[in-house]
Amino acid sequence: DSPYETILLERKGRVALLTLNRPKALNALNLQVMNEVVAATEDLDRDPEVGCVVLTGSAKAFAAGADIKEMCPQGYLDMYLSDWFAAWDRLGRVRTPTVAAVSGYALGGGCELAMLCDILLASDTAVFGQPEIKLGVIPGIGGSQRLTRAVGKAKAMELCLTGRTMDAVEAERAGLVSRVVPAGELLGEALAVADTVAGMSLPVAMMAKESVDRAFETTLTEGVRFERRLFHAVFATEDQKEGMTAFTEKREPRFRHR
Ligand code: CAA
Repeated sequence: DSPYETILLERKGRVALLTLNRPKALNALNLQVMNEVVAATEDLDRDPEVGCVVLTGSAKAFAAGADIKEMCPQGYLDMYLSDWFAAWDRLGRVRTPTVAAVSGYALGGGCELAMLCDILLASDTAVFGQPEIKLGVIPGIGGSQRLTRAVGKAKAMELCLTGRTMDAVEAERAGLVSRVVPAGELLGEALAVADTVAGMSLPVAMMAKESVDRAFETTLTEGVRFERRLFHAVFATEDQKEGMTAFTEKREPRFRHR
């Protein structure tokens, strides 16, 4: 029995699949969806048996944005005092690696949600954009920041100022997504990538993720220093011994996530 109404949760070995499930609203991200996605992901993050989380939507829509109908009547103090969208920040602090599998619309908050994930895979039907300006608002879940870091100022500025969307090919060329796959293969491919990640040493994967993320937060010198400290730290794990021993013994490693 699932405690959630707007998302579906499945476990496939060490991979967890979280599917946004508000089809009538193209997975528009209302507060209930936000709270459920964040709570479920934080739960999975606490589970040492989960090595990677895949987040996906439907074929037509990963998510068509934050819920416009829910936001329409709000005033400044409603937004400020409830700290609207603040819970999404917690998704960015999850330590287990995450994969966004995007098919169809990833607009506004949908694009921002995909960018909160670590690996972003797109189907050839994916459409990305930050069309908030057409509604008289601006991105509110980090879109103006993460899109700019992902694709650079030129494209981010054009997308945020005109509301123009990008197809999957443009998104890959711009560096927003790591790969584009045929729509029918998206979920299988995302699960395969997640399975690969989940097969690695979980603490080492967490450190790799932390280290890449640090590149967005600090200077090169500090980032390299941070990486070096973690690199030294992995030598305290059993999995480092196993990984390097397996190589010398010409066999596959069996990581024990410790
Ligand atoms: N919020 C609430 N409801 C939404 C929604 C959204 N973001 N996107 C779609 N829906 C609803 C529609 O209202 C419609 O519901 P009804 O049947 O009750 O009218 C249903 O989903 C199906 O949508 P459409 O009929 O519009 O489907 P379509 O195929 O004709 O068009 C679309 C698809 C182009 C994605 C269109 O739905 C659309 O433009 N959606 C809004 C996209 C958008 O502006 N997103 C940004 C939202 S603001 C935001 O995200 C702020 C932020 O930074 C967090």
